[in-house]
Amino acid sequence: MIKVIKGKWNKKIYRVIEKIGQGGIGAVYKVVDEDKNIKALKITKNINSITREHKFLNELKSYYTPKVYDMDDFQIRNKVYYFIVMDLFSGKNIKEYIKENKFDEGHIWKIGWEIGSFLEHIHGKKYIYGDLKGENVIITDDNKVKIIDMGGVSKKGESIREFTLLYDRSKFNKGIRKAEESYDLFSLTLLIINMILKKDFKKGVGKADLLIRKCKNVGMGKAQLKLLGDGLDGNISLKDFLKVVKSLENNYKIARMKKIKFKIDRVVNYMLISSIVFFLSVLILNLKRVLD
Ligand SMILES: Nc1ncnc2c1ncn2[C@@H]1O[C@H](COP(=O)(O)OP(=O)(O)O)[C@@H](O)[C@H]1O
Ligand SMILES: [Mg+2]
Repeated sequence: MIKVIKGKWNKKIYRVIEKIGQGGIGAVYKVVDEDKNIKALKITKNINSITREHKFLNELKSYYTPKVYDMDDFQIRNKVYYFIVMDLFSGKNIKEYIKENKFDEGHIWKIGWEIGSFLEHIHGKKYIYGDLKGENVIITDDNKVKIIDMGGVSKKGESIREFTLLYDRSKFNKGIRKAEESYDLFSLTLLIINMILKKDFKKGVGKADLLIRKCKNVGMGKAQLKLLGDGLDGNISLKDFLKVVKSLENNYKIARMKKIKFKIDRVVNYMLISSIVFFLSVLILNLKRVLD
């Protein structure tokens, strides 16, 4: 593995600590810069994709995306590699999280709402994210939702550049590969479904009805199933979709609080009954003793 990377033009030096990720376009490393700051460095041979990503990281910057600090290239054995340096998010991407099976339903709606807010932000700037999937969303160790990989971003109205079949609506016969808001909403809905089913549901590629049925089988109610169906069909706006997502998150929280309260009430009742029984038995015993 490469130990040190020195940019040809900006001359900045990065010491590689470990590899933290691999996608279809690039490899991502945890590095230390000359000021001893930890950063993420993404390397690829694809100059077009990394240049676009650098541009969009600057243009679409938000709470959800990493800040980008450097873009440069270097050479090994006559081959040129391009890289960008950005904030490192320590945590796991959603695909890894799904494998660990850690979500409850409330958590899923919360994550869905956060991703949706990021999508609203970039749609407001006339862009479509395009390649939304588990690998491109990180849940940090302190439970924040972060979006990486701007390689699939397209201007509204263009055709989608980078996509993943598992999350691509045209594979499901639910619309074309055109950069419009409903394209991102489809992928967001599918990502939520994958979190509900606790895996990237490969058998369901292309079969929206099957996925909805599976969600029903794991206990999703009518409101949830309707929302997921609407999201896949694209007959709801992202804004309205997110409103329902928020209300489902709140309903889930309220239902959980009720359950906890019910459990506490039951324990309190048991304690009350047992103390009454205890009191009565002591009373009867004493009465018996007095009468004897
Ligand atoms: N800034 C980052 N902080 C932490 N992990 C990252 C960061 N960027 C990428 N990764 C990890 O590396 C993987 C690949 O990065 P990504 O940008 O998606 O590459 P590609 O464009 O090839 O798909 C991601 O799935 C993620 O797990
Ligand atoms: Mg990626």
